[in-house]
Amino acid sequence: MDEAVNNLTSTEPGKPDTAPDPARRKILVAATGIAGGAALTAASIPFIASMTPSERARAAGAPVSADTIGLEPGTQLTVEWRGVPVWILRRTEAMLKVLDDPRHLAKLADPGSDVKNQQPTYARNAYRSVNPEYLVVVGICTHLGCVPTSRPDVSPADIGADWDGGYFCPCHGSKFDLAGRVWRNVPAPTNLVIPAHHYVSETKIVIGRDTEGAAS
Ligand code: FES
Repeated sequence: MDEAVNNLTSTEPGKPDTAPDPARRKILVAATGIAGGAALTAASIPFIASMTPSERARAAGAPVSADTIGLEPGTQLTVEWRGVPVWILRRTEAMLKVLDDPRHLAKLADPGSDVKNQQPTYARNAYRSVNPEYLVVVGICTHLGCVPTSRPDVSPADIGADWDGGYFCPCHGSKFDLAGRVWRNVPAPTNLVIPAHHYVSETKIVIGRDTEGAAS
């Protein structure tokens, strides 16, 4: 089984995990408090530079695993997979309630995840996940590849009164909800990508494989 990627870094709520230019992006593994609490603090580490050759080979395509032990409701962690950040958000009951609210769904361009190849078939549901409590999503904007900002706060002044919490891309203003679904009338054309993933235990998630046998 592949090792979980464990480096911790700090991310301030309301700020991007990394710089928007993919070439300069430092892929980091983070545990981020996003429910209005203080950000966790630790040293940032350039991910690729810190890798051994075997680790770099694994990052090129092999699955990675993550453990959600200790992940509190309303917080998320980030793992690096195939050179991109994958967020694992543990959603609260309030967050889940919004996701199938008709008033919220009316704001979205693809509420039913009808666009193909943006998610595995098992994630074509209201929560875009295997387990509704956890969102597993690639943290790359589908417009031009920036890293959106976690904004779970409802109706913030800088985004708008109609904001229900989600991910905001400051590059050109694209908006995604807490299932990674894109809003109408924003530059991003599609929902965020849900990677192939499965659970090997209640808390351990393997990203990059649908099951123990099939790589994706
Ligand atoms: S890259 Fe996200 S809105 Fe342009």
